[in-house]
Amino acid sequence: MINKQMFQFPITYTIPIRRIAIGWGVHETVADECKAVNIKKALITTTGLKGTGIVDEINQILTTNSVATEIYDKITSNPRDYEVMEAYNVFKNAECDGVVSVGGGSSHDCGKGLRLVAANGGRDICEFASFIDPPWMEEVKKYKPVTIPQVSVNTTGGTSAESSGAADILNTKLRIKMGILVPGMEPTAALVDPLLVRLMPQNIAAWTGFDVLSHAFEAFLSRIGSRHTSAIALGMIKLVAENLREFVYNRMNHVACENMCWAENMAVACLHFGGGPGIVHGLGRQIAALTDWHHGLGNAVITIPLERYNEAACPDKFAEMARAMGVDTRGMTNMQAADKWLDEMERLLADLNIKTGQLSEQFGLKQKDLEHIVASYENDVCQIGNPRDYSREECFELLEGML
Ligand SMILES: [Fe+2]
Repeated sequence: MINKQMFQFPITYTIPIRRIAIGWGVHETVADECKAVNIKKALITTTGLKGTGIVDEINQILTTNSVATEIYDKITSNPRDYEVMEAYNVFKNAECDGVVSVGGGSSHDCGKGLRLVAANGGRDICEFASFIDPPWMEEVKKYKPVTIPQVSVNTTGGTSAESSGAADILNTKLRIKMGILVPGMEPTAALVDPLLVRLMPQNIAAWTGFDVLSHAFEAFLSRIGSRHTSAIALGMIKLVAENLREFVYNRMNHVACENMCWAENMAVACLHFGGGPGIVHGLGRQIAALTDWHHGLGNAVITIPLERYNEAACPDKFAEMARAMGVDTRGMTNMQAADKWLDEMERLLADLNIKTGQLSEQFGLKQKDLEHIVASYENDVCQIGNPRDYSREECFELLEGML
């Protein structure tokens, strides 16, 4: 019997990255991108983006360029399983042959989910969750890969969901947020347009911007990461440190906006080149299943205590992240420099007006919820890459400390 535990230098695999177009005005090419992948009738999946006019504009570009459309705009933040199934039914009944997702992670992930359901004959989306047990690597072989095309038009700063192959969907029966990852789910083409991204309100810019950073530091710290991941993640950390504040407080600062768009999309390379989310995303999304908090804000409020706990496992990496944020660490030990990263993060959170912890007061989380969250995280694939192993008791204590 061989030891199947995680090794210090595991074999790392990559997932293909599809077409990405980044630049001012690129959303105007949405109909061309649809035609390039033979979409004749697109289902637009979106949260609605009320007040921005973006959905109307995309719809108009498509229809005036001979791509027929149907719209499903009932997606909520933390998209629900039933929303994916509703969107699938609209897709099927309207005889669509592709998806155009317009918005942030929720819109893109719902689009990915419905394509997965359609590729598998209408099976319930909840049947595709990636868990440690039963092992995802075995389960995924039972699903048909996704071949239905999706063009994503991104409007937020955070998730790289417009390009990534994963979808986070809320299982409303089990009250868990499922990570779903099946070959082919990644959108066929992603359009990242700073013209649209700068229309975000200030708080969403701050929260999604922090999510960019959390993708970078979790991928960098991940023990299943690769050299590709490390290089890209450090570049993201530098971009966010130098641009997020300016972007949040002046979204018309076109340099900061463009840099945040790059940093946001670079996360897909971290995810697809072997790195992955850790305990911040892992616990954060299970808390989201109960509190419905915004994904980026949730990550932000739990980062400091969780990463302080991770710090001892790899202080050299924390020190390197401090340097990427511009800290002069000359003359310091690795631990001293590592502490500086946490100091920098506290300063950034204060500048973004985000309070660490206080989960009860801020989000209504209750002591009785903690057992459910810990149990859900125990079977979450995010646990695999985290640099430090957490026992059930340690997880519980950390959550209790953040109440
Ligand atoms: Fe995220």
